[in-house]
Amino acid sequence: MRGVLETIAATRILPVVVLEDAGAAPDLAAALTAGGLRAAEVTFRTAAAADTIAAMAERPDFLVGAGTVLTPAQVDQAADAGARFVVSPGFSPAVVRRCQERGLPVFPGAATATEIQMAVDAGLETVKFFPAEQLGGVGMIKALAAPFRSVRFIPTGGVNTDNLADYLALPAVLAVGGTWMVAPALLAAGRWDEVTRLTAATVAAARSDTRSTV
Ligand code: 3PG
Repeated sequence: MRGVLETIAATRILPVVVLEDAGAAPDLAAALTAGGLRAAEVTFRTAAAADTIAAMAERPDFLVGAGTVLTPAQVDQAADAGARFVVSPGFSPAVVRRCQERGLPVFPGAATATEIQMAVDAGLETVKFFPAEQLGGVGMIKALAAPFRSVRFIPTGGVNTDNLADYLALPAVLAVGGTWMVAPALLAAGRWDEVTRLTAATVAAARSDTRSTV
């Protein structure tokens, strides 16, 4: 399998998964794969997160990461379950340090120039930009990308098929993240065909703008 950044950059879409039942993880990974995606961020917002990660990590063709990672202990849980990368909503030096100790790529949230500098100081080049729409969206990323020329952003929060092309048009955007193709209600109802349909539509929309490269 390709590297983490390479895999995410291949489709430039990162589904943010909130799954209550880890038993549904194989079906969800299969639905995403059928729609053309090979990666997902599984959030530690439910007790099923570690088991979901472990189930998805069994697929050799699928890259699973952990999201909403708030503590070093969750970094360990994620790593032990087989997560290949970690995402956090904000910048936590302790979380970043633990990821580096465990050899896991980490994409911490950075919403201001100061937070981006903290990420750069920690040796990172890719940050989550969260919550993207509420923070000013495309205009804010353009402004922040100007001084931080080596930094790549993963905007998440309020991104969907209507606005993803605007984000993906920015060379500083590695990928966009969000829940629109894996809405919790769809997952709870086991509507895997609909997940695949929305995923395929998203992949097609993203393909129309593929300027980003790793
Ligand atoms: C996240 O955790 O990254 C966001 O809550 C996802 O935001 P969305 O639901 O607006 O896509």
